[in-house]
Amino acid sequence: MLEKTQEKHISVLLHELVDTISLSPSKKDIVVDCTLGFWGHAKETIRKMKKWDMFIWFDADEKNLNLAKDNLKHLVQEKQIEAVFIHSNFVQLKEELEKRNIDSLSFIYYDLGISSMQIDEWERGFSFKNDWPLDMRFDKTKGKSAYEVVNFYEKEKLIKIFKEYGEENMARRIAEKIETERKKKKITTTKELSSLIESIKWDAKTKARIFQAIRIEVNNELENIKISIRDAIKFLKKWGKIFVITFHSLEDRIVKNILRDESKDCICSELICTCKHKKNIKILTKKPIIPRNEEIKNNPRSRSAKARIGEKI
Ligand SMILES: C[S@@+](CC[C@H](N)C(=O)[O-])C[C@H]1O[C@@H](n2cnc3c(N)ncnc32)[C@H](O)[C@@H]1O
Repeated sequence: MLEKTQEKHISVLLHELVDTISLSPSKKDIVVDCTLGFWGHAKETIRKMKKWDMFIWFDADEKNLNLAKDNLKHLVQEKQIEAVFIHSNFVQLKEELEKRNIDSLSFIYYDLGISSMQIDEWERGFSFKNDWPLDMRFDKTKGKSAYEVVNFYEKEKLIKIFKEYGEENMARRIAEKIETERKKKKITTTKELSSLIESIKWDAKTKARIFQAIRIEVNNELENIKISIRDAIKFLKKWGKIFVITFHSLEDRIVKNILRDESKDCICSELICTCKHKKNIKILTKKPIIPRNEEIKNNPRSRSAKARIGEKI
C-alpha cells in the first residue's frame, strides 16, 4: 500500500538535485529537506550521507510526515544518520533550527507545491476535478481554509488574489460572480466553485488558475517562501548549497530575486550605498535548470519545474 502510494508521486529533477550535493568525507554534515512529501528526494539524498550526519525533514502535512517516517525508518537505521522530523511549515525554519542549536547547514532544499497524492486526497479540496469540501490547507490543524477565503473575503481582495496569484484576466468577473452567489448560499464545495467559474469561462485553465490562486492565499505560500529562503541562506555554512524547485513563475521570480539580491554587495538604489548589504552567495544557475525531455515524457507534471541553486560564500 505504501509503495503504491509513493509510486503515484514521481520526484522532479531528482538527479539534478542529488548531483548538487557535496558533503564532507569526515566532518558531520547537516542537511534539511523543507518539503519532505513522498520522500523521493530524501531517499536518494540519504544515500549520499554518512554515519552521524543529521537529516532534518519538514512537512506541514502531518499525515504525510508520519507516512514518510515509517518508510524512511530502515534507511535511517541502515545509514546510522540522525533523523529529525518536524511537523511544521518551513516558514518556521529559523525557530526550529535555533531551538536545536543548529547553525551551519551543508545543504538545504525545497520542492515546492503539493504532491500528486495530495491532489488525489478528497478532503483537501485542492482539485477542481472532483467534488470535495473547500479546504486547501496543507496543515489542516491551522489557519483559514478556502471556504473562508471564497465566502468571506471582500470582492476587491478576491480580484487582487485572482490577478496576482492566478494571473487570471477574468478575475473581476469571477469575483463578482462569487459575490453574487455567496449572498444566496455559501459556496461549500470544489464543484460549486468550479461550476461558478465555468459559468463565466468554460476553460480548465481558468479553473486551474483560480484554484491555484486560492491555494496560494490559503497557505500564504509566497510570503512563506520568501521568509524561509532568506533564513535558509543565513543558516548555510561556507560552500553550503540551497536548491529550490518551483512550479510556477510567481515562485520562480521570488527565488530568482532573492538569490540575485543575496549575491550582491549592495541592494539599495542610492548613489552612495546605505543598505550595507553584503554578498552572501554565489549563484550556480545563471539560467534555471529545467527537466530534460525524457523526464517530461515520463512525468508530465515536471514540465513547469525550474530549479535554482545558490552556494554560500
Ligand atoms: C511536491 S511535495 C514534495 C515531494 C518530495 N520532494 C518527493 O520527492 O517526494 C511538497 C511537500 O511539501 C509540503 N509543503 C508544501 N508547502 C510547505 C510548507 N510551506 N511547509 C512545509 N511543508 C510544505 C507538502 O505538504 C508536500 O508534502
